[in-house]
Amino acid sequence: MSNKLKIGLFGYGIVGQGFKTVLDRSPNLNAEIVKICVKNNKQTEERNLVNSLLTFNAEEIFSNPEIDIIIEAIDDAEFALVIAEKALQNGKSLVTANKKMIAENFEKIFQLQQKYWKPILYEAACCASIPIIRNLEEYYDNDLINSVEGIFNGSTNYILTNMFDNGKSYAESLKEAQEKGFAESNPKLDVEGYDSKYKLTIVIAHAFGEFINPKEIFNFGINKINDFDIKYCNEKGLKIKLIAKSYKIDNKIYAYVFPKFTKINDRFFQVEAEKNGVSVESVFLDKQFFIGKGAGGIATGSALLADVSALKHNYKYEYKKKNGIEGFKISNEQILKAYIRFDNDKAVNKPIFHNIEETYTNGNTKYIIGEIYLDKFIESGLAKREDVNIVLC
Ligand code: HSE
Repeated sequence: MSNKLKIGLFGYGIVGQGFKTVLDRSPNLNAEIVKICVKNNKQTEERNLVNSLLTFNAEEIFSNPEIDIIIEAIDDAEFALVIAEKALQNGKSLVTANKKMIAENFEKIFQLQQKYWKPILYEAACCASIPIIRNLEEYYDNDLINSVEGIFNGSTNYILTNMFDNGKSYAESLKEAQEKGFAESNPKLDVEGYDSKYKLTIVIAHAFGEFINPKEIFNFGINKINDFDIKYCNEKGLKIKLIAKSYKIDNKIYAYVFPKFTKINDRFFQVEAEKNGVSVESVFLDKQFFIGKGAGGIATGSALLADVSALKHNYKYEYKKKNGIEGFKISNEQILKAYIRFDNDKAVNKPIFHNIEETYTNGNTKYIIGEIYLDKFIESGLAKREDVNIVLC
């Protein structure tokens, strides 16, 4: 690499602009953006950029011999994979914030790095400002991780904070999360738990060394929470948080994304607004908790910058745990304590329950609290029913 790092940037939305802002204020890194590729023809002045920096032609970045690093900050996971492939083919390293692209193509991302001997770094793809991937990969290298659990999505945490602490509606809170640039272009990815699941897939790769297809992980979001659920929480001093969890027992990995009740003495209870929180539990270190901004242009931009800086020192992920002899498999054979709320005139199949602790009916609304078999719950199709909400206890 030349002395001054030359960067080609794809995408100039919230994240791309966040990265440029952070880079402009980090002169010591000695790096500059030499080209920005964008897809739509917005006015250059609107983007506040000089014309010579912008291009609509991706080849101008791939074929530029001056460029050492490509930063990918677009929201299209399919084209992001093309960028990853072409970057490495052209001898450039890649830094990306695209969790969907990484999670859905782990094996390929790994193979590309082996084939071209160029790194792909993606700290920004997981919990933005929290350096969780690098920690799992390096710091917990020799420790045996039992579980990683967290609030992995800033938008949903912002929405839930607004609903539970500020009494705002779901719709109003979602709109705010979009206006603040926290939400995905398709906010369904946030509120239905897909974004958290992609991040969990990345976490699993670096915590347990296994590349899991995200489709194998069950996700349930926050979009079904209604006034009844909020009243239930208020009466009991609870808040709901969207939790992604993976844990390992013997040779199996268990994982899910679910809303969960938290109490005041719970660390996740304290994680507010767009912040994320990650709890890592390992055999020798017990529990450790990370907290920080999980969404937004500056938080994500600084994570991209941290990866650029790491590349300057020739850093790459070694996927040390992947080379281990253990081959973990993912399993949904889990028993989870849950609150299931539904319309009284539409029954919930009893076989999903391992046991039932409490049943309550008020008018047309009913809830059952008990231990459920996750695999049976998934098979039952209950999650797809409009009237059903589930929250882990
Ligand atoms: N939409 C994501 C979130 C952005 O809200 O967490 C950061 O990955």
